[in-house]
Amino acid sequence: MPQLVIASNNTHKINEISQLVEGIELLSLKDIGFSADIPEPYHTFEENALAKASAIYQFSGKNVFADDSGICVYALNGEPGVDSAHYSGERDDEKNLRKVLAGLKGEQDRRAFYKAVICLVWDGEVYYFEGICEGKITEEKRGEGGFGYDPIFIPDGYEQTFAELPLSVKNQISHRGKAVMKMVEWLTPNP
Ligand code: IMP
Repeated sequence: MPQLVIASNNTHKINEISQLVEGIELLSLKDIGFSADIPEPYHTFEENALAKASAIYQFSGKNVFADDSGICVYALNGEPGVDSAHYSGERDDEKNLRKVLAGLKGEQDRRAFYKAVICLVWDGEVYYFEGICEGKITEEKRGEGGFGYDPIFIPDGYEQTFAELPLSVKNQISHRGKAVMKMVEWLTPNP
């Protein structure tokens, strides 16, 4: 079975991705002995995903992919975007989503989308896979599942937030689910 490293320490992301990947042995950063933080200094998802994947490729020489993702709110001019993980100034999901809710107070246009960009380094070549999930921001937090902005995001076509929907449903329609499924199709094409 081919091996592939996930260049992430985010256990939520790793859990979601693991459920979508079959026929490939996923290795964690711990498995390859990498324990440092990987910097994400850029202003696009693509550049940050490439930075993470390249750092791990250089460290291990193994095939690797990185996901860079975030939520973009139309009425906030696309914020938090690439700054989603630390929008409030801290890596704190609760503070970050509170800042989005505060920014949208009294706002009618609550449309937002999640975006994920995967950068795959496979046999030294770089490939990108993207997924987008459109939806809207609630007035208040709802649900206990998921992570990040999931308690305030309702995907189009649903009534529940991502924190209320089962992970199996989130994975079918989410930004990350779509990007991962594209990568898996590329890696394991049907004969
Ligand atoms: P990254 O490590 O820079 O890709 O950070 C992604 C950040 O975007 C996370 O820390 C969350 O704040 C947010 N995010 C991305 N995907 C999701 C998701 O599926 N649910 C909730 N928040 C997400």
